[in-house]
Parts: sequence; structure tokens; C-alpha cells
Amino acid sequence: MEVHVELRARDALKAAERGDVSVIIDVLRCSSTIVTALVNGASEIIPVSTVKQAKQMKLQRPNYILAGERKGLKPESFGLGNSPREFTRGRVNGRAIILATTDGTKAFGFAKGAREVLAGSFLNAEAVGKKAYTTACRNRCGISLVACGKGGKFSIEDFLCAGKILETVPTDEFTLSDRAVAALLASGGAGERISELVHSGEHGRTLEEIGLADDIGFCLRVNRYCAVPVFSGGKVTLQRQ
Ligand code: MLT
Repeated sequence: MEVHVELRARDALKAAERGDVSVIIDVLRCSSTIVTALVNGASEIIPVSTVKQAKQMKLQRPNYILAGERKGLKPESFGLGNSPREFTRGRVNGRAIILATTDGTKAFGFAKGAREVLAGSFLNAEAVGKKAYTTACRNRCGISLVACGKGGKFSIEDFLCAGKILETVPTDEFTLSDRAVAALLASGGAGERISELVHSGEHGRTLEEIGLADDIGFCLRVNRYCAVPVFSGGKVTLQRQ
């Protein structure tokens, strides 16, 4: 059994072709938003690739909350953006959400067909690592951590999170790819500097420029939730550990 780390959203497709358990990681902010919304009682999240698709779906499901971002900000006519801090219990409890983000929600589309598709973040690192491990052992398959990156480019926060999740996986039974080893080393090496590194990273700086720097601290709280979002049948729902 192998552990891979992929570095772009579209490489979720490779993971699916291998038949791996795939963990979609978009720390800033899609996967952090998904787990927060579900922990706060959202009934399901439908990830879609485009704003147009999201709006069309909303016409058929008027009770759903339309949420997401373009260039980090809430698109016109959407109810919520993609800041996890917006997805409070008061706003989302019992509600279904259609979510369109630039990279993260696309990754779920690419991951279709994988053995199991999970949403991973710092917020649920340990829970998702354990779930990926047990599913991989049960099915004798590999694990792929898909660090989505931003616009097809590498993102440091997703790579560090892949390492943090891997720290919770007993890897003795697995063969690690070089990128998986590097992610583990990066996470261990970053230690207490994770916050500084992510704030000064490319995506961190962008969020700061648009006034959303507080999202970064929110998304970097490690193991805040013991909950694993699972993508199946076109929707993401919660499986508590
Ligand atoms: C994405 O899916 O590309 C991100 O979550 C973007 C963001 O919200 O900053």
C-alpha cells in the first residue's frame, strides 16, 4: 500500500484512477469551510465547479444556501462567501449548501471514482488521518493526500497540512512517495512556525490584502474538530469519529 501527495486540485483524478482513499486538502479555505459548516449543523454540501452551475442549481433548490468565492470574495447574489467564520450554527444549522470555490470544490469533481473521498484540513487533521488509514487498511488500497494549491500552483499551507495529517497515520504498513516523505519533513520542521509560514505564504498574503487575514488563524487551529466530511453521491456529509 502506498501513500501519495498530489500538489494540484486536478491531480485528484490520478488518485481516483489509482483507487486510493483521497483526502482533499484546501486549507485556505474550502476544506476548512466544509468541515466547519458541517460541524455547525449543515445537512449537506454540494461542491460545484462554477458560479454558473451553482446559480443554476439554486434555481432548482431554492432553499439551499448559495456560497463560495471568486478571487476570495463572495460572488454577487450569493448568500455566503467562503470564509469558514461565516458558517456559524445560526446561519447553517439544518441547511443544505451549494458551494463553488476556485480550486477546492473542483477537486471533489476530479476525485469522483476514488475509493473514498474525504475533506481534510488542520481543523480535523487527526480525525481524517485515522479515517483514511482505516479505510485504506480495510480495502488494501493506497492513500492520496491532494494538496489542492491555488490556481494550479503549489500552496505551502496545503502541503504542510498533508504532512500534519500524515503524522497521524501509522505509516509502517505503507510505502511513502518522495513527496509524502517531504510533506512529513516539512510539517515536522515547520513546528511552531506554521502560522508565520502560512501568513507570509502567497495565499495568506492574498487573504490579508482583501481583509480576510482572520480566516488564516481560524483555519490553522489543529484538531479543533473530530469530524470527517465524506464526499459521496455528489454531496459532502459528516461522519463523526
Ligand atoms: C479555493 O477553493 O480555491 C479556495 O478555497 C479559495 C479561497 O477561498 O480563498
